[in-house]
Amino acid sequence: MEATKNVLVTGGAGFIGSHLIRHLVQNYPNYRIINLDKLTYAGNLENLRDVENAPNYVFIKGDILDIQLLQNLFQEYQIDSVIHLAAESHVDRSISNPMQFIETNIVGTVTLLNAARTAWEGEYEGKRFYHVSTDEVYGTLGETGLFTEDTSYDPRSPYSASKASSDHLVRAYYHTFGMPVILSNCSNNYGPYQFPEKLLPLMINNIRHEKTLPVYGDGKYTRDWLWVGDHASAIDRVFHEGKDGETYNIGGNNEWKNIDLVHELCDLMDELLDRPAGSSRKLITFVKDRPGHDRRYAIDATKIKDELGWEPTVQAREGLRLTAKWYLDNTEWVERVTSGEYQKYYEQQYQQEAG
Ligand code: NAD
Ligand code: TYD
Repeated sequence: MEATKNVLVTGGAGFIGSHLIRHLVQNYPNYRIINLDKLTYAGNLENLRDVENAPNYVFIKGDILDIQLLQNLFQEYQIDSVIHLAAESHVDRSISNPMQFIETNIVGTVTLLNAARTAWEGEYEGKRFYHVSTDEVYGTLGETGLFTEDTSYDPRSPYSASKASSDHLVRAYYHTFGMPVILSNCSNNYGPYQFPEKLLPLMINNIRHEKTLPVYGDGKYTRDWLWVGDHASAIDRVFHEGKDGETYNIGGNNEWKNIDLVHELCDLMDELLDRPAGSSRKLITFVKDRPGHDRRYAIDATKIKDELGWEPTVQAREGLRLTAKWYLDNTEWVERVTSGEYQKYYEQQYQQEAG
């Protein structure tokens, strides 16, 4: 059967990408979903074990900076749609190694844009280039206010500056070359399969091992948390129903100060681990602040609600419980991704196929 769409998803072995791939493979049997991922430390094929043999799914190990590979993929799979998530995504790593963020997030995005532009040769009917971005491009808020799609960009970390730069380039290809692009900027995601360097999985893992819980600065930094499955459904909605050239903000209407969220998590973990109430809170340690730490992010998601009818479905406490339970039920996954064991899974998997 011929696929009705050939969708190239980049970064599909990462946290959000793996949820998106699962969602697309399961909900769109007539699409062919091609997952291009370099499998950096953050990419893990184990995240996709349940769909890896699906007839409408193809995995390609490769780099978005490899223009020859991209050109071959566009040809071979007749790619008509791109959903671009591949990125370096951790702010702290961008502070210790900015260059990797420039290469992947900026140069990688332009390389992908160029590949699409060359392959599509100005025939844009039925084509779409969807760039997945972050609310961090807008900089930081004070106690009040929300980021709208019209908020000026004011990125303050190498990560957010690299994402902002890629957003500008994607829009430039719309205005300059008429490419059918679309963007979304989303708040902090949480849920299963997030690499345990980000706040929630790191804290869950440390509580399990009774290690200290490093809270940056005064802990009063605020983030708007969105259940990752809700982000996948929002991407689906924007991809299918959004308008070319538009940007949609995606958020959870779910603001927490870090310290309040960590307290909530501590109490939940005491219950799940059957430990005396208050024991996890004792592990909290205030540590040196992140340089350039943005004080508050919060999304106004009115546009996507009014124009595309999307709203988050998972409430904060329910999502936190689901997340904590998933990490406790999947401790082997955590051990493997943190020890590099998952690389062996990849080698084994593809050796078998070759043989
Ligand atoms: P992640 O770090 O978990 O995954 C990134 C994936 O990209 C990994 O699988 C990695 O192997 C792959 N990758 C990295 N460099 C690559 C390259 N050069 N070529 C091909 N693949 C490469 O990231 P995530 O949290 O899933 O974020 C996905 C996207 O969503 C990113 O663009 C990020 O900026 C954006 N975003 C994330 C959040 C969040 O809270 N995590 C919020 C809003 C937007
Ligand atoms: P993070 O998960 O790194 O996401 P982002 O920086 O993209 O928002 O961090 C979320 C918040 O938690 C942020 O304000 C930094 C803070 N944080 C800590 O306090 N301690 C930690 O160990 C980490 C990783 C983050």
